[in-house]
Amino acid sequence: MAINESTYGARPLTTAGEISLENVAKSYGSGPFTKPVVQDCSFVIERNKLTVMIGPSGCGKSTLIRLLAGFERPTGGAIRMDGKTVTRPGKDRLVVFQESALFPWMNTFDNIMYGPRARQEDTPQTRDRAKALLEKVGLKAFRTKYPTQLSGGMQRRAELARAMINNPEMMILDEPFRGLDAMSKELMWEYYAGLFEEWHRTNFFVTTDIDEAIFLADRLIVMTNIPTRVRAVIDVDIPRPRRLSDVFDNDHANQIKMQALSLLHEEAMKSFSGGSRAAADFVEAYSKRTAAGSGSQPASH
Ligand SMILES: Nc1ncnc2c1ncn2[C@@H]1O[C@H](COP(=O)(O)OP(=O)(O)O)[C@@H](O)[C@H]1O
Ligand SMILES: [Mg+2]
Repeated sequence: MAINESTYGARPLTTAGEISLENVAKSYGSGPFTKPVVQDCSFVIERNKLTVMIGPSGCGKSTLIRLLAGFERPTGGAIRMDGKTVTRPGKDRLVVFQESALFPWMNTFDNIMYGPRARQEDTPQTRDRAKALLEKVGLKAFRTKYPTQLSGGMQRRAELARAMINNPEMMILDEPFRGLDAMSKELMWEYYAGLFEEWHRTNFFVTTDIDEAIFLADRLIVMTNIPTRVRAVIDVDIPRPRRLSDVFDNDHANQIKMQALSLLHEEAMKSFSGGSRAAADFVEAYSKRTAAGSGSQPASH
């Protein structure tokens, strides 16, 4: 897919936008009530790559995102973006949450223009970029509709456009497609992968969905249970642009999926024996996937 600088700010590879974590720890509370959530966690989110983090529910993924975004500080170790310690939120790192942050009183176009307007950048150029982004995410015909008039999937797409217009060095996404039905989710994966393939910025995407993870990732970071740290880093060397049928008919992709699932299963079992209900759900979900076979389709659909 061609990189076109003139559309919405897509650009070739950059030298900025890399985050490294070194022995990061985060615990809440103090004294006997200390709860370690992240422990001895080290990894690099490489520039211009789509790094996906997967881990059991409740392992500490959103906590890590709050640390990366600078909303909270680690209790140990260091987080650096392009060599500089992260101490607070910055416009170089933009977080897209699972919950919709669209303003219900603004139409789609105005929602997307919110960031530029807040910076007094309501110029013909930014308006053109907003229009190009609307087209990219399939919402051209919905530019004057309000969030309640959009489907769940459309709202998430509007959300992506609203984040991307600000051109952050790094986009951080915390389970952004959670709660969508299976078909809307698959559509979102293709839209999002297409945006990434053209836009090519550093993306850090957190999920609990293995199919989503394999389809999107350049690198997959598999996390342990709480207190979380890296269990494995797996390169997902499947060529781009990717289509759903390519990836899920691909033996190599299925091998990666099975490898990741067996690690996640071990982690879930560990916390299951510790009495966690979330882990029980995960173990059950995993069993369903394997029961449906390791075949060529996303097993949960
Ligand atoms: N502010 C906080 N105070 C105490 N415990 C917290 C706080 N934030 C998160 N936790 C705990 O950290 C654990 C991991 O939560 P979270 O990062 O949301 O997990 P995930 O996103 O992987 O589902 C949970 O057990 C949660 O209760
Ligand atoms: Mg979370």
